[in-house]
Amino acid sequence: MSRMPLPYNPKVLELFRNPKNLGKMEDATVVAVAGNPACGDMITFYLKISDQEVIEKASFESYGCAANIATASIVTEMIKEMKLEDAWKITWKSVAEAVGGLPSIKFHCGILAVGALKRAIRAYCKNKRLSPGWLPEELSFEEKQALEEEELSRILSKRMRTEE
Ligand code: FES
Repeated sequence: MSRMPLPYNPKVLELFRNPKNLGKMEDATVVAVAGNPACGDMITFYLKISDQEVIEKASFESYGCAANIATASIVTEMIKEMKLEDAWKITWKSVAEAVGGLPSIKFHCGILAVGALKRAIRAYCKNKRLSPGWLPEELSFEEKQALEEEELSRILSKRMRTEE
């Protein structure tokens, strides 16, 4: 039985085939991961942040799908030269819009990309012992979703191991 291809728009496909800022960053100020290696949907975000709290460079590595790669790629472009405070305001919805829309079953892929970005920003502030007013103590929607997905994957892989 053949599977129906997902209705990705041309922009997503182009970013998937030619992602920007793909790869490890050796001189990153902060690195953050979201997802679970056991199921393959994993993304790593690298940020180089100046003392003025401006994102000088951003890159990513992804083991996710086309939607994950496309959204991560566009996020790294959107946040370049942005103040951390402004990068924090980016939501998965604005990212999904920036790639021209995502099929609904692929929303989580964009959420994971933004979750990794927000984790990186939170980790930077924690490492520097900063608690700026714009950074809420409560996790953002994207961070919570990433946690939920990681927990689900953990439960699933545990169940699979016990059934083997
Ligand atoms: S990252 Fe899991 S299906 Fe896209």
